[in-house]
Amino acid sequence: MGRSFEYVILGGGVAAGYAALEFVRRNAASSQELCIISDEHFAPYERPALSKGYLLPRGAQRLPAFHTCVGSSDELLTEEWYNEHGIVLVLGTRVVAADVRGKTLLTSSGETISYKTLIVATGAQAMKLEEFGVSGSDARNVCILRDVEDADKLVGVMRSCPGGNAVVVGGGYIGMECAAALVTNNVKVTMVFPGKHCMGRLFTPKIAEFYESYYTSKGVTFLKEVAVTSMQRSAGKVTAVILGNGRRLPADMVVVGVGARANTGLFDGQLAMEKGGIKVNGRMQASDASVYAVGDVAAFPVKLFGGDVRRLEHVDCARRTARHAVVAMLDASGSVGDIDYLPFFYSRVFSLSWQFYGDNVGEAVHFGDLAPGGGGGGGAPKFGAYWVREGRIAGAFLEGGSPLENEAVAAAVRRGATVADVAELGRRGLAFATQA
Ligand code: FDA
Ligand code: NAD
Repeated sequence: MGRSFEYVILGGGVAAGYAALEFVRRNAASSQELCIISDEHFAPYERPALSKGYLLPRGAQRLPAFHTCVGSSDELLTEEWYNEHGIVLVLGTRVVAADVRGKTLLTSSGETISYKTLIVATGAQAMKLEEFGVSGSDARNVCILRDVEDADKLVGVMRSCPGGNAVVVGGGYIGMECAAALVTNNVKVTMVFPGKHCMGRLFTPKIAEFYESYYTSKGVTFLKEVAVTSMQRSAGKVTAVILGNGRRLPADMVVVGVGARANTGLFDGQLAMEKGGIKVNGRMQASDASVYAVGDVAAFPVKLFGGDVRRLEHVDCARRTARHAVVAMLDASGSVGDIDYLPFFYSRVFSLSWQFYGDNVGEAVHFGDLAPGGGGGGGAPKFGAYWVREGRIAGAFLEGGSPLENEAVAAAVRRGATVADVAELGRRGLAFATQA
């Protein structure tokens, strides 16, 4: 027994919401032909809000305010919106098995759902410290952050220890955004990670130094190049974090942000994989033509990087790959080409805001005032870096840019602007992009 649909979206996160809107815009979602299955209890929402607006001490954002697609200043798709558009939203339901050849999914409630075309939008899951040999994830005051349930736990724990001590494990996106939120909520933060500096996958040492010193001025302590080896517990709570160098950090709460892993397990052995994700072509189509993959779970060729296959765990990528998959699958004429994506990452912490475009490869050329406490004269910091490879701009980072400035650096990356003289590029800085 089960239902059958023309299209099924597996996963109900960012990509699912943007795909649904695209189906509706193309009049392809009518009369119960599209089904979204999600193990979350909410209609798709803008996940980035969870580490930002959701954690504010006052005026915190809550659903339904940040359902997709408000992150792109588009329609707010509430549960009613899906109903009104004839989209079947199956919430609180986990898919436990997939049969690609048979075109069926088996849900945790025992239902078999058939499809003609499947969009896999299962995203990624937060890695746990247990994967590094440290137990404690089940403690009442140890938090990860991936979904609303995690965010509610984090808010509850944070509010239970005003003036207390938090240990943030990991110096990536989650670590940096949560540390900022915690100190804003009057919780003292010590950040611990094995790398030489924060945001090791993206930042140069110089960029990292700026943010670390900014955070330090807000009361955050950085313990770098050190591992967490265990956690002391009492009555179901962690009371201290023990480090590889023997140091003991008393803790009222712990936030773990040690990376994410794409949710590919249902398709292991059934679809080609690459870079830890489902390998797709430029139309977001997997090795089985009836399956598309989008968002965090998709490894796709980036034209701008010469077709190099990448898996990008960022919201803009989820939105755009989802839309492209829908456009491509509804294209009867075969005229829709391969996605031409400019990778775009961003973050907002305290009153800071940065954007990054392209690829951080080649020589990094910094510009602007990166001095710790930068921004000279007390103004808002504004600085950045270009990455230059083979005489062309491959990537660009900008802190404190205006919309026009961000657009200008994005355009410089998009066209692979030629750099004749790297020293001159550093001197011209932002003007290289804005006065091109
Ligand atoms: P997403 O994770 O959004 O959705 C996957 C969905 O599939 C979930 O609903 C999940 O429950 C469901 N699912 C998985 N397996 C299932 C199964 N077997 N059965 C049923 N359902 C299943 N990016 C950025 O560029 N800027 C930012 O500021 C942020 N901020 C940010 C904050 C936080 C806290 C997180 C966790 C992430 C970000 N990101 C971000 C990253 C961004 O949110 C991420 O890239 C997108 O959410 C990816 O969208 P997807 O739809 O691919 O996965
Ligand atoms: P991440 O990969 O950005 O950072 C992981 C961090 O954990 C790194 O600093 C790494 O050195 C550290 N680490 C690894 N192993 C460790 C260990 N054993 N002990 C201590 N530290 C360890 O991953 P994340 O911060 O967990 O983010 C999870 C996902 O959420 C990613 O997909 C990320 O892109 C996404 N996210 C994105 C944004 C954004 O784009 N602004 C914001 C939040 C989350």
